[in-house]
Amino acid sequence: MKDIVLAKFAEVFGDTKEAKVYFAPGRVNLIGEHTDYNGGHVFPCALTIGTYGVARKREDNKLRFYSMNFEQLGIIESSLDDLKPYKEADWTNYPKGVMWAFGEKGMKVPSGMDILLNGNIPNGSGLSSSASVEVLTGHILRDLFGFEVSNQELALIGQFSENKFNGVNCGIMDQFAIAMGKKDNAIFLDTANLEFTYAPIMLEGAKIVISCSNKKRGLGDSKYNERRQECEDALAALQTVLDIKSLGELDEETFEKNAAVIGDEVKIRRARHAVYENQRTVKAVEALNANNVELFGKLMNASHDSLRDDYEVTGIELDTLVDEARKVDGVIGSRMTGAGFGGCTVSLVKDEAIDEFIEQVGKNYKEKIGYAADFYVVSVGDGPCTL
Ligand code: GLA
Repeated sequence: MKDIVLAKFAEVFGDTKEAKVYFAPGRVNLIGEHTDYNGGHVFPCALTIGTYGVARKREDNKLRFYSMNFEQLGIIESSLDDLKPYKEADWTNYPKGVMWAFGEKGMKVPSGMDILLNGNIPNGSGLSSSASVEVLTGHILRDLFGFEVSNQELALIGQFSENKFNGVNCGIMDQFAIAMGKKDNAIFLDTANLEFTYAPIMLEGAKIVISCSNKKRGLGDSKYNERRQECEDALAALQTVLDIKSLGELDEETFEKNAAVIGDEVKIRRARHAVYENQRTVKAVEALNANNVELFGKLMNASHDSLRDDYEVTGIELDTLVDEARKVDGVIGSRMTGAGFGGCTVSLVKDEAIDEFIEQVGKNYKEKIGYAADFYVVSVGDGPCTL
């Protein structure tokens, strides 16, 4: 990949003098969905697929961007003197947002850059291609200009840029999973205080299979911010009777005893998901640590059902992928991953069942939905690096 991106950089920007090559992963969340903005737990891991970038400094303030994933857009130009989001700036609003966020945090970017990207994560698929670009940009700025920022700070800056520059009220999960990724480990993160532990993903005789629905999802256009608001409303109502800072502080019993105060059937279901999903995530990690992969799979299934029925973020494409997956012998668990409304599912599949899984789920999905799904047998990888 290094050769491919360098060759393209030379073609697009003239030569590769002083250009360096970087990588940041994508992520998949194993369990703990829509809990990160509710002060709950998440359990994602970084992948070995992600975004490759080539970058070099310029003498002036100009920014020139080129993506091999959007070649039809050609070179998109901007300037450090104009770090504002524009619709026509398209994907470059993500790296620009990070440059703006560095400035807001007292690290003004001193000169322009030529930047080329090439991602092998399917875009808009729920594997965090945008957070990958954000963390990659932060890593590039740190490397090119010598800013002293930790990987955890890169995650926070990425989230800040997405919230304030790109207008998506996302939680910290994606940027954290990418910036803090560790080979063969998932990250058990408490989003209330950012305490985390690594948990080895040693799935004896099974693999993580991602099924991409090919239904595109744009977080900004989706109902993501609406769900977040519904949870905040439910929390505010619960706070009139309970001394809590977030839904993540509640166990199932305390929630059920007090849920009526929320006063709105839809918001009760949204909050129920957030509370139960958080508890499920804690139990799932305990199960995995105890080598009880079967229980982990059952909790994954319960997670999907709650996202479908209570949180209502799945849709026919993701539900079909999950229903078809669960029909295959050797599937330990299957659920949607990421924000939902399209994107991907994650399944734990026994090695001997993987071929049949891809064939059966692929065939039945195409028959029911009318277009094909894509499948990726993935490995868990490290955070950002310079190649
Ligand atoms: C998106 C957001 C995350 C998280 C998930 C849902 O990926 O970026 O912060 O809220 O959705 O779990």
